Parts: sequence; structure tokens; C-alpha cells
Amino acid sequence: MELTAEQKNRYESDKELTFKMFYQFENRNHGLPFDPFKSCVVPRPIGWISTLSPGGVSNLAPYSQFQNLTFDPPYVMFAANQNTLGNRKDSTINAEQTGEFVYNMATYELREAVNLSAQEVPYGIDEFELAGVTKAPSTLVKPFRVAESPIQFECRYYQTLRLPGKSSMGTVDIIIGLVVGIHIHDEFIGNDGKIDILKIRPLGRLGYYDYTVIDNRFEMIIPGLNETLRAGMEGSADKIIKT
Ligand SMILES: Cc1cc2nc3c(=O)[nH]c(=O)nc-3n(C[C@H](O)[C@H](O)[C@H](O)COP(=O)(O)O)c2cc1C
Repeated sequence: MELTAEQKNRYESDKELTFKMFYQFENRNHGLPFDPFKSCVVPRPIGWISTLSPGGVSNLAPYSQFQNLTFDPPYVMFAANQNTLGNRKDSTINAEQTGEFVYNMATYELREAVNLSAQEVPYGIDEFELAGVTKAPSTLVKPFRVAESPIQFECRYYQTLRLPGKSSMGTVDIIIGLVVGIHIHDEFIGNDGKIDILKIRPLGRLGYYDYTVIDNRFEMIIPGLNETLRAGMEGSADKIIKT
């Protein structure tokens, strides 16, 4: 798509001021060997999603298009593109049909198992076995948790938002779930009562074939924080002053 005269003008006047590169996604005119888009939102947490098929077979797959959406009550989402055959992914089908899924935190230590579970295998193959990880029973939902993962959320399916793609793979199903149960291994809760994230070493997804690991952290507090905002920043639903 051609830029209009006004758009060209805006681009030229801004180019010197703030940046050197601009491309229109539709034209793919970045001139680089790889599209940089996925490298521009990093690091992404990896939701290692376990589900059960209606027939009772366990499925496990990593999703870096994953996030928490809110905390009171907590909702999470994972965004599943279509598979290479243009069909909905197994995690999507299972979450919708059974109404449940589990988020397992991916860590540096578990990276090889995470990668193994990303293989596109026929529906109905047990991907806990494929990845060589142990099934731990959930309390409130039926899908198993990955026992080796330090943190897991038991989720009830809430809704799917389907965004149309430019290619069959580009079409994406955003699966939203309500978090009903939270498991945290005791060994990762520090003496200060906080999760010891440096001990966990969560895995993060970058662009291309790259990953990162969380091995440092620092603290920053918003100036003039009032109690409600503090509760929100902490994610402490029980401390929120009801309005
Ligand atoms: C680290 C990592 C992150 C991934 N993130 C996504 C993602 O966000 N969305 C997606 O559709 N596929 C993603 N994939 C690919 C899926 O894991 C892969 O297609 C898998 O076979 C899907 O399994 P399922 O059909 O059993 O759900 C990712 C793969 C890896 C290794």
C-alpha cells in the first residue's frame, strides 16, 4: 500500500527525530532477512498448557502468546494459531470441549521438555510422555499438571476470541480462562514470603529461535502510590479497598 502525501510528510519529519526504520506490515518492506515483529515484544512468558481430550488423553504444548489479563479474579489467555494443516490446535479443541486447562510455568531447567512438547503430533498422543514429564493430579479440574514445574494454575475455560489471519496459520484462537486454583512448590517461597523468582529461573521467549532466562531483578515503586494502587501493583486482591 502506497503512503499518501500527508503520511509521507509525517514520516519524513519524524525520521530524523525519533527513528530510522519504518515498515508497513502489509508490504513486508523491512528489508531484513527475518521479519523483526516477534522480536519487538519481549521477553514473553511461556504458558505451558496442559489439557485433556474428551477421550481422556493428555496434551501439553508451550504458548508464548500467553499472559495474565487481570487478578481479581485472575484470568489468563493463550493465543493459538492454526497448525500447519490450517486446523485448530489440540490445546484449543480440548480447552473448548472439556472447559478446562492448566498453566504450568516453563523454566530454564525444563527447556528441553518444553521444546519437545511443541512438536506437531497427531491428536490423541500423550504429550507428557513425549516430553518425559510427570503427571500430577489437579485438585479442581481434570487436566494433569506438570509435576516438575514450580507453579501451576488450574483454569476453567471462559471464552474464545477468534481473529482472522492473512494466511491460514495467521488465524488465531485466543483462549481465555478463569484461574480457580494456584499451586506453588514450597521450596520456591522465600523467607520474606515472596516467590523466589531467581531460584525458579523462568524461561522467556524472544524472537527468532532465541530464549532468555530471568536471572536478575530490581524493585521500583510508583511515586505517591496510594493504598489501592499499591494493592493493584502487588496484585493483592484482598487488600483492595472496595469502591
Ligand atoms: C516456546 C514456544 C512458544 C510457542 N508459542 C506459541 C504460541 O504462542 N501460539 C501458537 O499457536 N504456537 C506456539 N508454539 C507452537 C506450539 O507449541 C505447537 O504448534 C504445538 O504443536 C501446539 O500443540 P497442540 O496442537 O497440542 O496445542 C510455540 C512453540 C514454542 C517452542
